[in-house]
Amino acid sequence: MLAADKALEEDLFVSFPFAAYIPKTVTLKPRAGNPPPRLQETAAGLLNSIGLANHGIEAFIRDDLPRLEPMPVPVIASIAGERTEDYGRCAAMLDSRAEVAALELNVSCPNVELDGRALGLDPEKTRQATVLARQATSKFLIVKLTPNVTDIVEIAAAAVDGGADCVSLINTVHGMALDRFSLKPVLGHVTGGLSGPAIKPVALRAVFLVSRELDVPVIGMGGVTTAQDALEFMAAGATAVAVGTASFRDPLVAAAMASELGRLIKEHGIGSAGELIGVAH
Ligand SMILES: Cc1cc2nc3c(=O)[nH]c(=O)nc-3n(C[C@H](O)[C@H](O)[C@H](O)COP(=O)(O)O)c2cc1C
Repeated sequence: MLAADKALEEDLFVSFPFAAYIPKTVTLKPRAGNPPPRLQETAAGLLNSIGLANHGIEAFIRDDLPRLEPMPVPVIASIAGERTEDYGRCAAMLDSRAEVAALELNVSCPNVELDGRALGLDPEKTRQATVLARQATSKFLIVKLTPNVTDIVEIAAAAVDGGADCVSLINTVHGMALDRFSLKPVLGHVTGGLSGPAIKPVALRAVFLVSRELDVPVIGMGGVTTAQDALEFMAAGATAVAVGTASFRDPLVAAAMASELGRLIKEHGIGSAGELIGVAH
């Protein structure tokens, strides 16, 4: 490990810049993920086709949770399943784990009952997965939605109907990139998910519509890179804001964002972060 990396790791643990931490999604069985290359930078975002590679929930509980336990903030476990019933089984396995503060259902996983399409494309499947998880745990339950649908409010409503305490949005947007010389797809999986600044308008719209139509807290994400972005997501209706891709470039970016956000809220003459939520409506 380089000295700079070591210093960064120490900084991250001394003053962790986020209010909560969500490790990568785990599934009931291990998944190898997609063939490489899995990442490609694009003009204003990042394409990834990781394919939910992970070593399965048993290994997550045995090997990862003890390492996550010292985190200075609550850990939210993200779970997904190839079958709808997997959501209930994974939720049951984590219900008794004190290291896990809340559960997030990632409904962007390919579902075998839908011929490999994501479960979160189907309102009834989304509702069923949420019901099964709700029955299996008393932990705070978040459902993370895919934007690759015609009507994201309908899917969010199904999650709320199934017992979700909160919805988070958005996951990545379908995309692809071609190699400029061979003119063949760059990613080993051919297509992938786009994240970063390119998808901010898509995410902002989804947060705005879901929070306007439904009485449920919304975690907003998708291209949040600056405090101004976070301000706009909260104005659009997000109760909390998550940062993904921007953390790859600077893992401490959220620390600067949080202090700057306070200043921006004051500058707009808004009394508190709570008052900012939904002012765009
Ligand atoms: C490399 C990479 C891996 C990701 N893995 C997951 C994952 O395991 N589970 C999940 O729900 N979302 C995953 N996402 C999606 C992000 O959590 C986030 O919803 C999306 O990237 C939009 O936010 P951003 O623009 O701030 O990255 C991943 C995104 C990237 C770029």
